[in-house]
Amino acid sequence: MGMLDGKTALVTGAGRGIGRGIALAFAREGAKVVVNDLGTGIDGAGTTTGPADDVVAEIRKAGGEALANYGSVVDFAQGTAMVEQAVSAWGRIDIVVNVAGNLRDRMLFNMSEDDWDAVIGVHLKGTFNTMRAASVRMREQRSGRIVNMSSVSALGSPGQPNYAAAKAGIIGLTWSSANALARYHVTCNAVMPSGATRMVDTTPRAREVYEKTGKWPSEVAVGTDRDPENVAPLVVFLASDAAANVNGQVFHARGYRYTLLEQPQAARAIRAGARWDPKDLAKIFPETLGVGLDAPPGIGFGTALEAAPEWKPLGGGRSLWITPRETS
Ligand SMILES: NC(=O)c1ccc[n+]([C@@H]2O[C@H](COP(=O)([O-])OP(=O)(O)OC[C@H]3O[C@@H](n4cnc5c(N)ncnc54)[C@H](O)[C@@H]3O)[C@@H](O)[C@H]2O)c1
Repeated sequence: MGMLDGKTALVTGAGRGIGRGIALAFAREGAKVVVNDLGTGIDGAGTTTGPADDVVAEIRKAGGEALANYGSVVDFAQGTAMVEQAVSAWGRIDIVVNVAGNLRDRMLFNMSEDDWDAVIGVHLKGTFNTMRAASVRMREQRSGRIVNMSSVSALGSPGQPNYAAAKAGIIGLTWSSANALARYHVTCNAVMPSGATRMVDTTPRAREVYEKTGKWPSEVAVGTDRDPENVAPLVVFLASDAAANVNGQVFHARGYRYTLLEQPQAARAIRAGARWDPKDLAKIFPETLGVGLDAPPGIGFGTALEAAPEWKPLGGGRSLWITPRETS
């Protein structure tokens, strides 16, 4: 028995990388899948039907059910149509996973308006477009699962202002939707994924690897902890009935490690009896709100965790880490 038997799903950007892994895992667990992919270059240039077709063929070969969709998530009508494709074919839409993505990295001072719009369009508006359509159906059905790909870049990656803003915006959209749709038994969660895909091949670190080894990270990822398919088990779980009570959460998936992020919480506060005088604020700030201010973590988020001393064995090669803040 599969964890998603009888369910229908849309996975956007499912022709390559992380989305492909999710679509294949969904099908293995019994879901019928609309495999959307525009087949674009990393920067959003060009289109081809090959990636979506290949994944559909792979699913069918393994005995699963899938349909290709070549639409762009940027377009409101096409985003609606990909949700409706599942409804027309199979009568309902149980799961939407927003994975489609592009990249136009520039420092803020070098970024063009087009670079900004292109990235916000695919990630943030694209996520809204499919969620908007799915929420109508899921509200009627009184059930549904939405999983959105965010990124650790949302936490302050300096050379990606457009991408960081889009990925942080996706978290806001996820939280808002989680609170709005809970009463209809629809959950909405976000995942900051990771995996050596063509997207990662564009980074300076990947170029260093290529220059040293003659191979791009994506070429040697299969079967290792950098395999983009390692994200899929978490998404299968979030999309399943077993995750009915998991809503409005943000996870980081890296290799074989899944991390739950804390909900933002108040750290320090100061209070006065009337409006603050800025001079008074400047005086009191350093010893009140200003103690131990950290820079945003950026993409370094999570790397320190591997070496943390608090990992406790769970058996079977698995282990658990809990923030010392929770246990103290
Ligand atoms: N790879 C990582 O380490 C990493 C890290 C953080 C976040 N992410 C996010 O995970 C998601 C998948 O990334 P990936 O590394 O697998 O990238 P990828 O480039 O391998 O796959 C993205 C897919 O999205 C498709 N796509 C692009 N624009 C589209 C559009 N308008 N409509 C429909 N499809 C479109 C592309 O054709 C491509 O096949 C992205 O949202 C990315 O931002 C990836």
